Amino acid sequence: MAIVTLKDALQKAEEGQYGIGMFNVINIETINSVLNAAEESASPVIMSYPEVDWRYVDADLVTKNMVEKARSARVPVVLHYDHGHNLDFMQKLLDLGWTSLMIDESKRPLEENIAITSKVVEMAKKYGASVEAELGHVPFDEGGHGNDLQADIESLYTKVDEAVYFVQKTGVDALAVSIGTVHGEFKSTPKLNLGRLQELQASLPIPMVLHGGSGLSDQDFRNCIARGIRKINVFTEIMLTPATVIKTRLAKEPGWKMSYTELMDICLLSMKDAIKRNMDVFMSSGKAW
Ligand code: 13P
Repeated sequence: MAIVTLKDALQKAEEGQYGIGMFNVINIETINSVLNAAEESASPVIMSYPEVDWRYVDADLVTKNMVEKARSARVPVVLHYDHGHNLDFMQKLLDLGWTSLMIDESKRPLEENIAITSKVVEMAKKYGASVEAELGHVPFDEGGHGNDLQADIESLYTKVDEAVYFVQKTGVDALAVSIGTVHGEFKSTPKLNLGRLQELQASLPIPMVLHGGSGLSDQDFRNCIARGIRKINVFTEIMLTPATVIKTRLAKEPGWKMSYTELMDICLLSMKDAIKRNMDVFMSSGKAW
């Protein structure tokens, strides 16, 4: 199956009333984990490259590899850019064949967010690629440890009237909304504002995106999917899973001499299993077209 746009993939998810997982990749192991999981689950997938993790990777190498692998995948793959700010790099990705860009200027005032997002929509349109933006703000940097939900995140929730105005002004294909999730690990039990999500669903003509998926319960995901979330981002959970497997084995077998290749296998398999589990919960398993 070919590389597909975010817009087309989320349209299918809307018709089938399910969510599609977005998983960030940073190297060959994570690319293989995501694509193997999607193929074994016969699920569409959004394979994403995160701007925040540039420091760990050779961007040219990883993005070229993502295109090669996605082209030969047996399931629909969206090539997505997560939390982008760098328009020059986005242009490079469009030239490489990227089908979806997230521009995140959610920390800026509304009109500035609209102006920069509109620029990216113009860029992407020339390539038939899709654009996701964020309004309201999902706090904290992903991959972080321990986010304190006592902080006043309610003031960051997406406002319905602003969201309607933003979508109409920018022409984005999907909107990331803030309803109580945070990037990185949760310190306390997340409380989602499902009422706000329902109002947003009733008012917006496009699918919505949930950031900060790690740490939510299966029921949280089902509640969000029932209220119009079609793209669900999960990263921290996938990054933490291999260490959990390794710690468990070391506790049972303190003398275990792990080789690097053994570690790679553990990473691949544990991340793949975690991704497959998410695909089942999001109800995208078996939905590849
Ligand atoms: P988590 O790392 O909290 O799962 O969030 C991922 C995300 O939203 C990426 O944009």
